Amino acid sequence: MIKFIKVKDYQELSKVAGEIMLHQIKEKPNCVLGLATGSSPVGLYQYLIDAYKKGEVSFKNVKTYNLDEYCDLPREHPESYYSFMHTNLFNHVDIEEENVHLPSSLGKDLQKNCQEYSDALNKVTVDLQLLGIGANGHIGFNEPGTSFESETLVVTLTEKTRKDNARFFDNDINQVPTHAITMGIKNIMNAKSVLLVASGKNKAEAIYQLVNGPVTEEFPASALKKHPGVVTVVADEEACSLLK
Ligand code: GLP
Repeated sequence: MIKFIKVKDYQELSKVAGEIMLHQIKEKPNCVLGLATGSSPVGLYQYLIDAYKKGEVSFKNVKTYNLDEYCDLPREHPESYYSFMHTNLFNHVDIEEENVHLPSSLGKDLQKNCQEYSDALNKVTVDLQLLGIGANGHIGFNEPGTSFESETLVVTLTEKTRKDNARFFDNDINQVPTHAITMGIKNIMNAKSVLLVASGKNKAEAIYQLVNGPVTEEFPASALKKHPGVVTVVADEEACSLLK
């Protein structure tokens, strides 16, 4: 079931989605969270940091599993998702480093890394999976055409995704990695509940498709329509601008 919440702007999105995540942590302090990167969740993470600083919540027993990571970027690179998560959330709250998990693109045997990440995911139940959405409907880094049965995999990023993400790499597409390692759609669908956030005009087409389009592997986010639990979509006015 998709529960759709339309909000005014990015600020309201961050607050509304932040509250949903905060509620999850308060209700189950040892919950497992699936986390996302990109610009969409940054405000939500700030909301969580503020709540932590006010003493409203603790991350001491929270476990996290991130969706994805670029290949061929050292962890120390400021745009690696490892760095992103530490800069935007982990360094500011009381989470234990041993409870933080990201797919690893280190080493030569990436297939082994994929298997290990899927094995780890299959041993836990993600209580709440946070997602952004790519302009082409990708979730995690599962590009159009990815099987709904996929588990953690290495993917070739589309030109569109690399262009969209070039803003983080001095606007130079050549600096954007060509490959990434990502949870598969099946891993994402195994979460008990999902929270998807979308902001801005660049997402309007994707939100239109999500609401009105068919369930198809050509539009990865459409898998969420078959999710047995609650999928909450929080989208701002610009992201909803193509909806009636
Ligand atoms: C990136 C990430 C996704 C993210 C999406 C949207 O490529 N791999 O997990 O949801 O694209 O990013 P943004 O929120 O910056 O628009």
